[in-house]
Amino acid sequence: HTARFTLDPAFAVSPVDPRLFGSFVEHLGRCVYTGVYEPGHPTADAAGLRGDVLDLVRELGVTVVRYPGGNFVSGYKWEDGVGPRERRPRRLDLAWRSTESNQFGLGEFMDFVRKIDAEPMLAVNLGTRGVAEAIELQEYANHPGGTELSDLRASHGDKDPYGVALWCLGNEMDGPWQTGHKTADEYGRLAAETARAMRQADPGVELVACGSSSQSMPTFAAWEGTVLGHAYDLVDHISLHAYYQEEDGDRDSFLASAVDTESFIENVVATCDHVGARLKSPKRITLSFDEWNVWYQSGGAPQLSDEGRGEDWSEAPRLLEDNYSVTDAVVFGSLLIALLRHADRVKVACLAQLVNVIAPIATEPGGAAWRQTTFHPFAQASKYGRGTVLDVRPEGPRHLTRRYGEVDLLHATAVRDEATGAVTVFAVNRHQTEPLPLEVTLHGLGLTEVTEHSVLADADPEARNTAAEPERVTPHQATGTTLAGGVLRATLEPLSWNVIRLG
Ligand code: AHR
Repeated sequence: HTARFTLDPAFAVSPVDPRLFGSFVEHLGRCVYTGVYEPGHPTADAAGLRGDVLDLVRELGVTVVRYPGGNFVSGYKWEDGVGPRERRPRRLDLAWRSTESNQFGLGEFMDFVRKIDAEPMLAVNLGTRGVAEAIELQEYANHPGGTELSDLRASHGDKDPYGVALWCLGNEMDGPWQTGHKTADEYGRLAAETARAMRQADPGVELVACGSSSQSMPTFAAWEGTVLGHAYDLVDHISLHAYYQEEDGDRDSFLASAVDTESFIENVVATCDHVGARLKSPKRITLSFDEWNVWYQSGGAPQLSDEGRGEDWSEAPRLLEDNYSVTDAVVFGSLLIALLRHADRVKVACLAQLVNVIAPIATEPGGAAWRQTTFHPFAQASKYGRGTVLDVRPEGPRHLTRRYGEVDLLHATAVRDEATGAVTVFAVNRHQTEPLPLEVTLHGLGLTEVTEHSVLADADPEARNTAAEPERVTPHQATGTTLAGGVLRATLEPLSWNVIRLG
């Protein structure tokens, strides 16, 4: 049973927005403290940023970083995190029942994104705060000078404005767990008026309205419709969040998680376009998939350390430190494929999160930093997934899953680098035990050779990288992949993530 598809440059989906390879730093657990920021760590620079983490983040290829939350932002006062560190207040973080020291704030974050050459994406607090505080933050961050808040920034050491272009209007405001949770009408009005004020200051800002916190929310789609009914002309993107985990030992369904991701994207697009049609608007809302990952939300997953989570209200406790397996990395790769396959409408995406908290990078306080299994698919997709997505319509073997019915065993996309003509095929074999033969017919692409076929798979699908064995899981090269007579032939190992580069 062979899986087949055809690639032709005449059938392109869309250029890939580099901002598809974003990530997310929230004040949550050890993402910031002892993750990104740890003064006194042997590799820390003068600003307290961990050098070993900076190196890994650069290798990961992150293009955008969303900050400072997440649920955290809905109770956050940005003013607490600027100015002399010794004067910054300690506060309760209601979202994660932690104590926030505010030793890391906007200035430190901007220093971090500059050092990794990424774009900042700031979320404003629309939970406990509103229009006034959002425009004050915008003035502090972006106004060149000559006003109280822009001069305050300069007095804090940053004379040049930060030039933040991309802003999230709150976070998951549909969720009852959110501090300051709102109905769709309440949020839609607030988002519209915050957007209007932010555009008065700078018509060029790019704004993301909160969509649903998952496709399974009871208000899904109605929420998006109502919010956009208020804010359609004032925002650019709507957000999507999705997390997946294996449930009840049903691994086949878990491996097919991207079926949900793709339907979620298509349903949000349909909802946006429905509002556009109602408004007779030629404008198209695009999608910011600004939280996605594998996350064992119901617990039970191996954690990076068994040291314990700390008491309520402790500082930087170990929270959500999922230790990812090979299986998790294959599902994760499939989620990347889903985003690329919809690059025509998904213009921003953020892997949640970056360090320690459901993250591709793990650290020990005072100790090492290392790559989780999920690091590898992300780094490869960011490196080779730039260019134009080609339409991939696979035909071939399917199997039955409990959650999604019949699904293709192959999940794939292909990206063409317009400058060199090189094409990279990203492919997942969802079968747990059977290899999957693949044949790709190449039309009009002028490709002559297989540059490499990298595979992430393992005889033990539960294998993980740990502090003791940080390189247990890494990609290896496949053998027997050929390109002859315009046909690529490969065999995809069972339960595998594949990167096949053609030149
Ligand atoms: O990424 C972890 C949390 O998941 C975020 O704080 C929140 O937005 C989402 O529910």
